[in-house]
Amino acid sequence: MPGQIPQDFIDDLRSRVDIVDVIKDYVPLKKQGQNYKGLCPFHSEKTPSFVVSPHKQIYHCFGCGKGGNVFTFLMDKGGFTFVDAVAHVAKLCGVAVPQEELTPEKAKQKSLREKYFHINKLAVVFFQERLDSRQGKAAGLYLAKRGLGKEIIAKFALGYAPNAWDELGRYLLSKEITEEEIITLGLATKGQSGKLIDRFRNRVIFPIFDDRNRVIGFGGRVLDDSQPKYLNSPETPLFNKGRQLYGLNLAKAAIRDEEKAILMEGYMDVIAAHQHGIGQAVGTLGTALTAEHGKLLMRYTYNVVLCFDADAAGQEASLRGMDILRQLGLRVAVMTIPDGKDPDEFLRRNGQEGFSQLVKQAPSLVEYKLAKQMEKYNKNTVAGKVQILQALIPDLYQVQSPVERHGFIELIAQRLSLSETVIYAEMRKFQTKTGPTRFSKHEHEETAPVPSGPSLNAAVKGQRFLLKLLLEKPEMLPEVEEAGGKELFTDQFYQEIYQIYYLLRRSGHNIKAEDLITHIEKEETRQKLTEIILDDEVPADWARIYKDCLLTLQIDWLKQKIAEKNALMIEYEKSGNVTKSLEILAELQKMIQKRQSLVSTLVKVGNSLE
Ligand code: CTP
Ligand code: MN
Repeated sequence: MPGQIPQDFIDDLRSRVDIVDVIKDYVPLKKQGQNYKGLCPFHSEKTPSFVVSPHKQIYHCFGCGKGGNVFTFLMDKGGFTFVDAVAHVAKLCGVAVPQEELTPEKAKQKSLREKYFHINKLAVVFFQERLDSRQGKAAGLYLAKRGLGKEIIAKFALGYAPNAWDELGRYLLSKEITEEEIITLGLATKGQSGKLIDRFRNRVIFPIFDDRNRVIGFGGRVLDDSQPKYLNSPETPLFNKGRQLYGLNLAKAAIRDEEKAILMEGYMDVIAAHQHGIGQAVGTLGTALTAEHGKLLMRYTYNVVLCFDADAAGQEASLRGMDILRQLGLRVAVMTIPDGKDPDEFLRRNGQEGFSQLVKQAPSLVEYKLAKQMEKYNKNTVAGKVQILQALIPDLYQVQSPVERHGFIELIAQRLSLSETVIYAEMRKFQTKTGPTRFSKHEHEETAPVPSGPSLNAAVKGQRFLLKLLLEKPEMLPEVEEAGGKELFTDQFYQEIYQIYYLLRRSGHNIKAEDLITHIEKEETRQKLTEIILDDEVPADWARIYKDCLLTLQIDWLKQKIAEKNALMIEYEKSGNVTKSLEILAELQKMIQKRQSLVSTLVKVGNSLE
């Protein structure tokens, strides 16, 4: 990529731009002496070790070692390509990128991603036009019934997918988009007859934008009570549900201004919030909150208010979400919508004022947990007090600021009618029990980036072998995908390489290992890939090792899955949801059987080889 733009120009730009201005769009920074400091956007931490030097025009994290200049930052953090990063900085400095870089040829060679964004954009326009047409009448009425006006519909670029088999497909084909591209983006699938079938039919369409206003995927809602209520884009090269927040493109300015993000579950919740002037609302779209979500928010604020549905599932999600966000160093508060309503319904009845009142009252994490514990145990008995206190002490420990912590202790003392001295004494007991060194070690483990040291354990070795083999022998891909695909790769770098490789191959690219490098943006992942390409060799008797390796990885993966399901089942049992726990039990039994049969195959394979 570099080389297309004159080096002089790049050097000149670097001397003109202030890296602090660029980075503070992503990370809240505080001046400290000559430098600026903030929580590192590249790893999870509670005390800032990310330093930006305006003098040297570089950044460096003393926690995880990441560092670089303004361009690498934009590429790593902002998702820019090198060329885009240069253009972005040039715009900030008010200078034009030299023309020769934009030869007509270069302009034509749009990167694959840009092409995909373009196609999604075409689909948005298609859906919007259909909503405005006669076909979209029922959908328009539906949206009106849900209280959405013209303006908000336009703001969120809502649309309608007609009740037809292939209108979108044909529309895109007429715009010289290929079948492969349409399928890769999850806009259609191939039917048995070999014809395209649109994924979204007779649904209201919610385009999903990334924080740079590019369309990465879609959600579609039925107009009645049929199932599934919502259908989303599958995972595509652009769309990964656990990494995106619905509405962030529209909310990011308000989040910065208000120094607060409000996190909701549903499409309609977010839209209703914006319509009622709550501009800092974003949505997780029904997936569990992930650390990726948290990191995305950290570019804009450290304060997050969770506003999940009032049902049991929503409350569970709140509790889990809180811990994830807190571990990233975010300050979390939890809103409870009265009468079991979801935010959308509440807003329609009570408007901005009612909602803002709830935001203001939203208890912080410790307060919220205190209230929960007080529902569970009787604070008027000694045993009850002990139990409530025991449950809260680990959370109190996590509170960073001593002032804030003291505030909580005051509050707990008051609610439980205890003296503050008693609570401090309990905390000291907790500290000696866990041991201060162990505690800090634990903290360190939590915040350290995923280790990727040179000592490969057996599982990782197996994954590396499999990946190398697939790069040389792509004909094995379908079998591996069938066996679990990316799930087999517990090593995040290998998983990423596999996923990108698989998606490109699936969309018809006859890609070679060396070319794959240009499709991988993360420098660490890239390093892993080059390492595999250069270091390893596929042995002559690969077929034997391959069978063994695939089975072993499959078994490992199932083991993990079984443990997760088991934990989930126990949770449901605890909350008294018998139907759900039985459902999971049935799934568990199937998985265990599957695992046993794999184990016996592995043994047989092993024996026949001896
Ligand atoms: N969701 C999904 N697929 C489903 C159901 C839900 O992806 N089959 C996601 C959607 O993003 C949805 C969110 O989970 O917005 C919350 O689900 P739910 O509370 O069931 O829906 P609501 O947002 O309340 O939907 P509506 O108000 O339109 O009925
Ligand atoms: Mn709803």
